[in-house]
Amino acid sequence: MIESKIILGLMRVQNKTCSEIEKLITEALNLGINFFDISDIYCNGEAEKKLGEVLKNNPTLRKRMIIQTKGGINLNNGNTYYDNSYQYLNKALNNSLNRLNLDYIDYYLIHRPDIFIDKEEILKFYNENINSKFLNFGVSNFSKEILKYLKDIDIKVNQLQFGLGHQNLINREINLNTNNKEGLESDDGLFFYMKRNNISLQCWSPFQYGMFEGSIFNKEKFPELNDLLDKLSLKYGVSVNAIAIRYLLMISDNIKVIIGTTNIDHLKDSSKALSISLTKEEWYSLYKASKNPLP
Ligand SMILES: NC(=O)c1ccc[n+]([C@@H]2O[C@H](COP(=O)([O-])OP(=O)(O)OC[C@H]3O[C@@H](n4cnc5c(N)ncnc54)[C@H](OP(=O)(O)O)[C@@H]3O)[C@@H](O)[C@H]2O)c1
Repeated sequence: MIESKIILGLMRVQNKTCSEIEKLITEALNLGINFFDISDIYCNGEAEKKLGEVLKNNPTLRKRMIIQTKGGINLNNGNTYYDNSYQYLNKALNNSLNRLNLDYIDYYLIHRPDIFIDKEEILKFYNENINSKFLNFGVSNFSKEILKYLKDIDIKVNQLQFGLGHQNLINREINLNTNNKEGLESDDGLFFYMKRNNISLQCWSPFQYGMFEGSIFNKEKFPELNDLLDKLSLKYGVSVNAIAIRYLLMISDNIKVIIGTTNIDHLKDSSKALSISLTKEEWYSLYKASKNPLP
């Protein structure tokens, strides 16, 4: 199955019923979005449970879907910590499969890096479960150095925050060796390391700024960006959501974008990102309009 460039994330389904989620998934599939992201921590496990119910009630959906889940964050009744040990990941994986009513998952990701991560334990976890409990393996929020440390493992994906409101991942490449803070505070070559090693970059929260502080479509907070988004939206006849997604997808072939809408109109709007192309000049105008300096 060819993977869609747009992934639908199911993090915000706390107020959705199983039949509403089934409708959202069906709509996504009809729009050509066949990749779905979830995690054991979303809605405290309830998101996976609800998806599991949907898959049980409508087993034909599963055949059309690529499903990805994540583990490695222990919510620990409010005293959260990260655990990437062999033992914890095995337990988390089995719990996810049980909640999802699945024997195997298409992608399994470590959600956040645990400073105690041990490559032998990850290798053991990987070797014991690849092609049985998961078909592909990946990580999320991992630095270049940890990826290099895990180089004996076939890491297909690194999921990172990246959107018009959060561009740390590429700011350093554009602002290197300047006094602009964007060049100093950014990730150390991770973007090109992933591109060179063919690691898929899945951009999470593409419409948010900060850590879930709100959406970039807030005209008061981002007036220049929204003026330009509106202008491009008019020019191309698609929504601002589609423009914001295209901005990311056009940078490199190894990019996918994870949207988190639960609104069918926003889903339809976003799916149109693939029907347009922006020019390089427009890309740089959006980069600058989203408060990033070009030296
Ligand atoms: N690996 C990680 O650490 C990590 C962290 C966070 C998220 N994720 C993944 O990334 C996915 C997406 O994250 P996200 O939900 O934060 O992404 P997002 O798509 O950037 O944000 C979704 C939010 O933006 C709103 N929105 C969409 N279009 C809008 C518009 N035109 N105007 C105003 N608001 C609009 C949505 O509301 P509507 O529902 O009304 O459209 C929703 O509340 C998650 O589901 C999850 O799978 C991963």
